[in-house]
Amino acid sequence: MKREHPVFACFYEAMSWPAEWLGAKSGMNRMRSRLVARLGGRILEVGAGNGMNFIHYTDGAEVVGIEPDWEMLRRAIARAHGARARVSLVAADGEALPFASGSFDAVVSCLVLCTVPDARRALSEMRRVLKPSGQLHFVEHVRARRGWLASIQDALDPAWARVFAGCHPNRDTKSAIEAAGFRIEKMKEGAGGMMIRGCALAV
Ligand SMILES: C[S@@+](CC[C@H](N)C(=O)[O-])C[C@H]1O[C@@H](n2cnc3c(N)ncnc32)[C@H](O)[C@@H]1O
Repeated sequence: MKREHPVFACFYEAMSWPAEWLGAKSGMNRMRSRLVARLGGRILEVGAGNGMNFIHYTDGAEVVGIEPDWEMLRRAIARAHGARARVSLVAADGEALPFASGSFDAVVSCLVLCTVPDARRALSEMRRVLKPSGQLHFVEHVRARRGWLASIQDALDPAWARVFAGCHPNRDTKSAIEAAGFRIEKMKEGAGGMMIRGCALAV
């Protein structure tokens, strides 16, 4: 798979500015804060992108971000300096995490399982590196439950994936999380069922 998507990285960076500029008023920032602000201990963020979650971790967290795209990674490195938490970054794929089993208190996946080429393998890696009581915290966009909306997502998928660096709008990520051996503890849906947010325990 192609690792660098410079045009997409520039586009994503430009999309990130309004959220940074609006600060706490931005809906995206509220979503990011709800996702990570209460997490402590050693946290793995898979597909950290340009590092937009980093400012939302508190100083009790030790965050390891992995990201395979160097265009994203170099932006994430810059943002890591502004974080209260200790943040380190590693160039790696979610499907082959270079970490020991049971070495993280929590794993964060934010808008990533739509893009990872082998989401099942990545989820099984996330489960492997979690401590026994560790949780996966996720925000993902997924295939809608309503038939007509899902059909539009299916129709858009081939072009969407080409334009947005391999992102698939129509994945059944909830089922993939469960199939990887997680039990979903909490989950909320938004945007007509196209967004899911929650946490899951490895069982
Ligand atoms: C839509 S961006 C989300 C970035 C970030 N998590 C955020 O919340 O803004 C998707 C990210 O997944 C990354 N990605 C793609 N393939 C991946 C893989 N195999 N393992 C880990 N991350 C991957 C992309 O490089 C990109 O940074």
